[in-house]
Amino acid sequence: MTTHTAAAQASPNIAFIKYWGNANHALRIPVNGSISMNLDGLFTRTTVSFQPALALDELVINGHEVTGKGLERVSAILDIVRQAAGINLRAEVISENNFPTGAGIASSAAAFAALALAATQAAGLAWSERELSILARRGSGSACRSVPGGFVEWLPGSANEDSYAVSIAPPEHWDLVDCVAIVSAGHKRTGSTEGHALAPTSPLQAARVADAPRRLDICRRAILARDFDALAAVVEHDSDMMHAVMMTSQPALFYWQPATLTVMDAVRAWRSQGLPVFYTVDAGPNVHVLTLSAYTTEVTQRLRALPGVSDVLTAKAGGPARLM
Ligand code: DP6
Repeated sequence: MTTHTAAAQASPNIAFIKYWGNANHALRIPVNGSISMNLDGLFTRTTVSFQPALALDELVINGHEVTGKGLERVSAILDIVRQAAGINLRAEVISENNFPTGAGIASSAAAFAALALAATQAAGLAWSERELSILARRGSGSACRSVPGGFVEWLPGSANEDSYAVSIAPPEHWDLVDCVAIVSAGHKRTGSTEGHALAPTSPLQAARVADAPRRLDICRRAILARDFDALAAVVEHDSDMMHAVMMTSQPALFYWQPATLTVMDAVRAWRSQGLPVFYTVDAGPNVHVLTLSAYTTEVTQRLRALPGVSDVLTAKAGGPARLM
């Protein structure tokens, strides 16, 4: 058999309604649905090449060879692809991000969405968006939301085949912009995978999950109606709820830094003065500040002037994972 190569790119996404906790940890079936926006202009580009000469899978990220857990996580996805395609070749996987690692933008979502598309294509499989979303989910839950374009909802499902993401509106539907306030943080944080496993140890998690369908409805409707105020209220509330669960799990997870609170406080004050802004925070200290495109310069300048903010990245709504 000859060499089979394909390349794909995918964007990270920011969750408006968060994924936190699994019903099935191994399969990454979440306890609640989630809604996100892909981030345009930021992407992971991944080339997968199945080669007869390789004895083991190889992984290179941003020019550095990755072994151990990182490689195992990629090989597990390649194993699913090999089995589906009926091939037995090992692969070389070369991946580059155009956004800084540790910038508070989860790279695993873009990485596994790009890997799912490149690996299936390289293996000669022409999978549907739904099948690709399911495969990406197996690598990183939030990656299933980086397969479709624009504004995306992950339908949680209850089994491997019915847990996947769909687009609810294309990128051009709404000119929202994510201004990511980078907060310098020296500490090593607990990764999402370990965090999801701790979620059920918080007594607040059951209440967060029970209320999720209501928040999802409000969020979906706010996006479809381009209702900024309704979206602002539900997204901040959902982020605060997830962090309440994190802070009350055992062991407790505190992702916020002092500067995280400084930014959250400023955003609330600016909104009360009439500026269209809201925040959401993932499993790290950086603050995603959403606004409308006309206010990007204003919001970016204000964020940069806050103590503890070292940089601001901006992204509008992005498209789906695609072949290169
Ligand atoms: C806080 O998808 O990164 O960003 O499946 O273990 O890779 P794994 O977890 P991951 O979790 C994302 C957590 C979050 C919220 C979200 O993006 O919905």
